[in-house]
Amino acid sequence: MKPLIAGNWKMNGLSDDAKSLAEDLKARSAADLPACELLVCPPYLHIAQVAGILQGTEVRVGGQDCHTAGSGAHTGDVSGDMLRDLGCGYVILGHSERRADHGENDALVRAKAEAAQAAGLVPIVCVGETADQRASGEALAVIARQLKGSVPVGMDAERLVIAYEPVWAIGTGQTATPDDVVEVHREIRKLLVGLVGEGSDRVRILYGGSVKPANAAELLAQANVDGALVGGASLKAEDFWAIAASCP
Ligand code: 13P
Repeated sequence: MKPLIAGNWKMNGLSDDAKSLAEDLKARSAADLPACELLVCPPYLHIAQVAGILQGTEVRVGGQDCHTAGSGAHTGDVSGDMLRDLGCGYVILGHSERRADHGENDALVRAKAEAAQAAGLVPIVCVGETADQRASGEALAVIARQLKGSVPVGMDAERLVIAYEPVWAIGTGQTATPDDVVEVHREIRKLLVGLVGEGSDRVRILYGGSVKPANAAELLAQANVDGALVGGASLKAEDFWAIAASCP
């Protein structure tokens, strides 16, 4: 399985920043392409510009969320069809920041995942426990609950990505230990058998949470770690490229 290194730019960068980051990625992809699939997910407003710059390169573009409907009276929202129209192939769904900032629950994430696949996008469904949940020994139970609630049964395995992002590791500089990552990813892989059935071993499971050039190689070398979802470090082309180059 080709690993996927995905950059989540979150709500960062003005138009000029997005342009120079995309141009830097374009130049790097022409010079030296790592052996993984590369994806960047800019803020909606920058997607058209970034997709234009990266057209014809191996760096794909995705969204950070989408609505469950294809169009309609949903002020401020964006549909999967709109993302697809701008050249997106992927969409991040159920990120812990959306679950926290917008009260998104598993049922909504599941509906979005269905809508995204129907729109021709590959959903990247995020799950992960908080620090308190880990401290009280609930991490695996929380992840199982989120996964079962957020992933529609019988999804096309080839067109589904899961991201394990422990909430306490996001933007904190703390990463889960390789042993913890292996334990959680093994559990996710097991649960996917029941959820996706045939082909569940082909669903890519990404790790996210303070992935940096310095820790990427160790994390990416672990069993069932099929790539990374990178926040802060994806805003620097050099760091993002170094992480991608760490794929085994
Ligand atoms: P950081 O890499 O900044 O910790 O963010 C991770 C993340 O939330 C990616 O979606």
